[in-house]
Amino acid sequence: MQITQRWKKCITITVILAISLILTFFLIFLGIPLSILNSEKLQRHFVFPTHNLLPENPDYENFHKYNIYGGRNLYVYVNNDSSVYLGVWHLLPHVLADEYLLYQNYDYENSLAHSNFPVVMHFHANGGNRIKFANMYHVLRKFFHVIAFDYRGYGDSTSLRPTEIDIVQDSVNLYKWLRDQTEADIYFWGHSVGATLSAHTLITLQQEKLPVKGLFLEAPFTTIQEQIQLNPFYKFFSWLPWYKYTMVDSLPEHGFVLNTTEYLLSVKCCIMIVHAKDDRNSPFRFSEELYGLAQTCNKSVTLHLLPDHLRCGHYSIRKAPQLPEYIRNHIRFCRDPTRYLHHPHNKFIV
Ligand SMILES: *[C@@H]1O[C@H](CO)[C@@H](O)[C@H](O)[C@H]1NC(C)=O
Ligand SMILES: *[C@@H]1O[C@H](CO)[C@@H](O)[C@H](O)[C@H]1NC(C)=O
Ligand SMILES: *[C@@H]1O[C@H](CO)[C@@H](O)[C@H](O)[C@H]1NC(C)=O
Repeated sequence: MQITQRWKKCITITVILAISLILTFFLIFLGIPLSILNSEKLQRHFVFPTHNLLPENPDYENFHKYNIYGGRNLYVYVNNDSSVYLGVWHLLPHVLADEYLLYQNYDYENSLAHSNFPVVMHFHANGGNRIKFANMYHVLRKFFHVIAFDYRGYGDSTSLRPTEIDIVQDSVNLYKWLRDQTEADIYFWGHSVGATLSAHTLITLQQEKLPVKGLFLEAPFTTIQEQIQLNPFYKFFSWLPWYKYTMVDSLPEHGFVLNTTEYLLSVKCCIMIVHAKDDRNSPFRFSEELYGLAQTCNKSVTLHLLPDHLRCGHYSIRKAPQLPEYIRNHIRFCRDPTRYLHHPHNKFIV
């Protein structure tokens, strides 16, 4: 009698446990993918994570705090009714910054309008505001006036939900503002998702017959679908039969197309790609793939892969001692593509 009751208890507990396990399983492995499938907000959390941006407590006016000399902070309206503005840094080329130290009221506008230096618009990666990438500007200032800006929803730009199409439109309008400020050549530099956004902006400008002199892509990915699957959170679900359908394929439906491959194939100016071999966020095979495709389509494209021992990773390509030389060569090449056809460092197909 007692034994059968014990058995009954045992069976009941086992059944309850099994049911809870099955429920939990479905809640996690069906509920979460289905939520991601249907939620633009959740997808945006991975693509444009504007919460917790680094560095904390940013002070955009206080350049000295970040060891920067010869810069100004400004805000540029990028739509018709002055409701959207972007926070922008204009940093002088190092040579001019030295001059700036000598004068009290340095005329930045005049300097930008009439200098012999080209200008670069820097499109940053998704995990920081424009301060975070200051070390890269340091390298770029050897050659350029640097225009570093925050996308909408980032930094102290207008706090709006960032979408690919809106960021590209804002960037197009920022370019137009910049074009009015100077006659100098304008280049684009894009890092990670910024590489995708810079290429997308560039081809939009091309359609309006507005030229960009050259494009630099730092650690780009091929498509957001390929990139997002490297995220540990995504990997956790990757064995599910419905993983791709729910968590990956649905991104473009919510506006996250971010197909660098596609944009690159429409770019008409010269392209330089630089990627570290020890990049753990975006493997360098992405750049090899982009390079291969661009080459097949007869783009003028250069690929520089940085060796492991430099430990550049995804965020420190600026450390590579060769980088200034690569940039210098690319500027020369953009200015006169025919002359540098057989440059030993580059594999050009023009
Ligand atoms: C401003 O509005 C005009 C007319 O609606 C449009 O053609 C133009 O592209 C707009 N410009 C910007 C910066 O949005
Ligand atoms: C990206 O663009 C390429 C070239 O247009 C296309 O072949 C590919 O299918 C696109 N990838 C995705 C995921 O949309
Ligand atoms: C690229 O150039 C080669 C040689 O000039 C030509 O045969 C090929 O058709 C071109 N490819 C494209 C996609 O234009």
